Amino acid sequence: MSQARIIDGKAIAASVRDEISSRSAALFEASGVRPGLAVVLVGEDPASQVYVRNKDATAAACGFHSVKHTLDADTSEADLLDLIGHLNEDAAIHGILVQLPLPGHIDESKVLRLIKPEKDVDGFHPVNVGLLTAGERDTALVPCTPAGSLVLLKRTLGDTLSGMNAVVIGRSNIVGKPMASLLLQESCTVTIAHSRTKDLPNVVRAADIVVAAVGRPEIVRGDWIKPGATVIDVGINRIPAPERGEGKNRLVGDVAFDEAVGHAGAITPVPGGVGPMTIAMLMANTLTAARRQLG
Ligand code: GUN
Repeated sequence: MSQARIIDGKAIAASVRDEISSRSAALFEASGVRPGLAVVLVGEDPASQVYVRNKDATAAACGFHSVKHTLDADTSEADLLDLIGHLNEDAAIHGILVQLPLPGHIDESKVLRLIKPEKDVDGFHPVNVGLLTAGERDTALVPCTPAGSLVLLKRTLGDTLSGMNAVVIGRSNIVGKPMASLLLQESCTVTIAHSRTKDLPNVVRAADIVVAAVGRPEIVRGDWIKPGATVIDVGINRIPAPERGEGKNRLVGDVAFDEAVGHAGAITPVPGGVGPMTIAMLMANTLTAARRQLG
């Protein structure tokens, strides 16, 4: 059986970042303003610390004004809301990202709703969710992981996805639902599958495009994939070392890559597929937010 083409998310993300760096430099040249990103981390979750460090470093590498706020795990909700209020009013900050998950004593939805929609570079505010759902991509800020997944699909399949059968596995607000909205706007026939879906293997077998975003290691098996289909694996699952008797944790996706590679036409690896695109699209959203705020 022929082997799938491996979609190189690392290389595509690097080209997106290069493009953003030059556009950011051009903006600075024209207006004297650098796109400003504030990243807020509450607590010490190790995975979140890595993500936040990467976001901050990438913003700096793109020539942005980048500010990181690290708050103690026992920070009160009122203090966090107060910080967001200040960032909302800070003219040097065009994008605000509060890393999730937040500690249990803080109401996540209250925090996300306080961020000004035009600075909501995560695209999680109800205003941005509504604009995306209504098909107004030119005014919305679109969540980074689905936006990055769509870029990978278009680089693989070309600009026209019209009429393709797309199956999105997972119905989260961060990935599954916005991904389905984006694919619908590309005129795909979209199915959203989830944990209660009956006969998931046969639902997936009908798909020309599979986007797996359930957070379950290797749940999608190779023989579920229609020959030649394009597979975007959003899952990042850490398999602890002791389970395998080896020294290092291993990262796997939601798709059994070694099996699927013999069926798919193209597939993203984990790591090195969707992950790097998410951060690149955060930079794209921050640049977009800055340009809109500068009028
Ligand atoms: N935690 C996991 N994914 C994300 C994301 O896309 N944005 C934020 N803010 N937190 C996350």
